[in-house]
Amino acid sequence: MDGLKARLASRNANKARELGHSLPDWRIEPLDADDYPPEDGTTYYENARGKALFGRTRAQPEEWVLGEDSGIEVAALGGGPGVESARSGGDDPVGWLLDRLDGVEDRNARYVSELVIVSPAGDELRGMGTLEGRIATEPLGTEGFGFDPIFIPHEEERTVAELGNDWKRENSHRARAARALLVALREAG
Ligand code: IMP
Repeated sequence: MDGLKARLASRNANKARELGHSLPDWRIEPLDADDYPPEDGTTYYENARGKALFGRTRAQPEEWVLGEDSGIEVAALGGGPGVESARSGGDDPVGWLLDRLDGVEDRNARYVSELVIVSPAGDELRGMGTLEGRIATEPLGTEGFGFDPIFIPHEEERTVAELGNDWKRENSHRARAARALLVALREAG
């Protein structure tokens, strides 16, 4: 698999950067497309697969295509916003979540990332990763994106935005999904 080029079917440049760090032997480039189909699956896997299959129709025949879907699941919100994360909170998802957890004692949450890769021949493989943690009471830190300024991983005292991009490269839900995908690729030969 080393040195292969994959297109990430996503509008989120942060994800391409993070996956590039977590899959250092790969060349991950964003797919050039502005007409993605709606993300209307009921699971991360369905959405990740939908993005990858859309990407397959646009990428060069020799390129592999990656689709990723992720979200945050907050215990006190019954596991929400989950698969709806990208559509929750408008321009201020951090403020939105902090408002919802105002005065709430149970701050447990987790990030989930699901990756699907489609080979040039159309074969599909998947990898999933999670990161357990809790929601802080105020935003801290500048790295990462999305909810990172208020997400404190278990066994850490700082937010992901404070821990930074180097920490994410090894430890994030996306990094874990990438490692699971590499195992699946190795097993598939
Ligand atoms: P999607 O996978 O592009 O549909 O969106 C995932 C959404 O989940 C993002 O817009 C963020 O709100 C949240 N999310 C997923 N991964 C992360 C992460 O690594 N840091 C912060 N927020 C994340």
